[in-house]
Amino acid sequence: MSPLTELAELSRQFEAEAAEVADPAAWEELRIRWLGRKQGIVRARLAAFKEVPPEERRDYGQAVNRLKEQVESGLADLESRLTTAAVPVVEAVDVTLPGRRPMIGSIHPVSRVAADVVEIFDGLGYSVAEGPEIETDYYNFEALNFPPDHPARDTQDTFFLRDERLLRTHTSPVQIRTMKERRPPIRILCLGKTFRHDNDLRHSPMFHQVEGLAVAEGITFGHLKGTLYAFLKRLFGPETEVRLRPSFFPFTEPSAEVDVTCTFCHGDGCQTCSQTGWMEILGAGMVDPRVLEGCGIDPDRYSGFAFGMGLDRVAMNRYGIPNIRVLFDNDERLLRQVKR
Ligand code: DAH
Repeated sequence: MSPLTELAELSRQFEAEAAEVADPAAWEELRIRWLGRKQGIVRARLAAFKEVPPEERRDYGQAVNRLKEQVESGLADLESRLTTAAVPVVEAVDVTLPGRRPMIGSIHPVSRVAADVVEIFDGLGYSVAEGPEIETDYYNFEALNFPPDHPARDTQDTFFLRDERLLRTHTSPVQIRTMKERRPPIRILCLGKTFRHDNDLRHSPMFHQVEGLAVAEGITFGHLKGTLYAFLKRLFGPETEVRLRPSFFPFTEPSAEVDVTCTFCHGDGCQTCSQTGWMEILGAGMVDPRVLEGCGIDPDRYSGFAFGMGLDRVAMNRYGIPNIRVLFDNDERLLRQVKR
């Protein structure tokens, strides 16, 4: 065997022996065998330098040094691995401790309210419609009878984007999109995200609304009332009372603000309802004839009603959540607390 082949063979041999070392005593043996001052293999190879033919000495010298470094660093690695492993890890595990359970998710309170609303209106023959969250001025305002520069626009705290676009401030634009696409009879429900620059305990810049729209021949205010009574009693419980107060929205005439008896005090008066016994829950009205006309629906033949309600507010009331932000913090503890 040539001296160089022999060194290559030693390098492999060292790796094989190192792999077998499992405790400090074996490590010490390995160290002496390879790096020992008197009999060590590496030292013997260094001494053998003299016997190598002069033309091979350069390569030989480099190879011996590589072997020496390999052995030294191999031993150092092994030593640190053995000292870490010496910590009695197994004994440190207390097997009597209860395990860590993964958090199991559940349906978000707002999604639950949304699902309940859809289920109630499904029973009344409504279908779900959708629209974009980024809207144009036309759908969010103009077609809903908000004239340009009209003060009614101020109530909407709008986030404006570039090119006449904006984040929809309510789900009402879906009324317009639906009426432009479909012919009566129409019965739709639209649920989705809406946006306003408003931020306090009961307002979040992103919130959720549900919009209802019914258009057909002979629809009256009585139909609106009957629908809302049926809906709200199912949503809040049969003992709930409902009242309508005259109001104004540009896209409905007449318009109403709708209240239900406070879900906390059941009408006696408490902090949540400011001692009134009532909670304002939605806006509604008969679709303004101008809105129908703008969508190509003949207001002399057809009439309709619409309503809009905030879903987050309902979820807060139902689950006793005092701060709307809790709904959007992504803290799983909320889900655990509101589990039915
Ligand atoms: N879009 C109104 C708002 O968010 C709520 C509303 C009121 C919707 C009356 C309606 C309605 O459909 O008829 O301020």
